[in-house]
Amino acid sequence: MHKLEVKNLFVKIEDKEILKGINLTVKSGEIHALMGPNGNGKSTLLMSIMGHPKYEITSGDILVDGESILDLSVDERSKLGLFLAMQNPQVIPGVTNLEFLKYIVNAHSEKKMKLQEIYKDIKSQAEELDFDLHLLKRFVNDGFSGGEKKKNEILQLKLLKPIFSLIDEIDSGLDVDALEVVAKNLNSIDLSESALVLVSHYDRFFKKVIPTHAHVIINGKIVISGNDELVEKVNSQGYSWIKELNNESSK
Ligand SMILES: Nc1ncnc2c1ncn2[C@@H]1O[C@H](COP(=O)(O)OP(=O)(O)OP(=O)(O)O)[C@@H](O)[C@H]1O
Ligand SMILES: [Mg+2]
Repeated sequence: MHKLEVKNLFVKIEDKEILKGINLTVKSGEIHALMGPNGNGKSTLLMSIMGHPKYEITSGDILVDGESILDLSVDERSKLGLFLAMQNPQVIPGVTNLEFLKYIVNAHSEKKMKLQEIYKDIKSQAEELDFDLHLLKRFVNDGFSGGEKKKNEILQLKLLKPIFSLIDEIDSGLDVDALEVVAKNLNSIDLSESALVLVSHYDRFFKKVIPTHAHVIINGKIVISGNDELVEKVNSQGYSWIKELNNESSK
């Protein structure tokens, strides 16, 4: 069993405090939904867990299997089993997607493999995603459509098989068929030793990948937690009732 713990986490970006005391525990077998209004800290939380240098942790801790990871670099966190599928995937001009995928697979394995040795796996994972194989020859995300970029994130995830997959708004930009395919791929992940943290604004996504836990982040804090019923309630009633509840309790 693996465990990711975020303890009373405070995070600043460029002197602005964004996260204000986040507590979250994610264990193998669990699927956590993170919701919340725009600009309230969801991506900041995932970026901070992954170790983006722009996000300054001013207090609190992040632990994997009981050990703090705050001193680890992004690549060390990645090798430990953390993975972030970004809301806005980066373009890497000059590096073909295939070279990039080979590089990340090799960075995670003891045995360094030649392209011929891993191409079969890359091809079959891409096919499971309905990912156009021509995109393997292009520069990473360069000129990719919104949906192609999102699928490329999931392709990386499928190749690396992380323990903790942090997935930020993967559904935005996906057409209905692509959403179905991505959901199918996420549902086929073996969660016996791994877990998913999914940020999305939409109930229709969480109807396809059903969370075991759900949380709402407002103003840098998790203000309410529950399960998939909370997702449905947010979908039908919005966030105002949660904000009111919170105002009441802080009086
Ligand atoms: N580099 C930065 N400099 C200043 N403020 C920033 C920077 N990056 C993010 N922020 C601010 O941090 C806040 C939280 O942003 P974050 O991306 O975590 O929101 P979010 O909850 O993921 O929103 P969305 O649902 O729109 O994706 C926002 O107000 C954003 O403008
Ligand atoms: Mg975001």
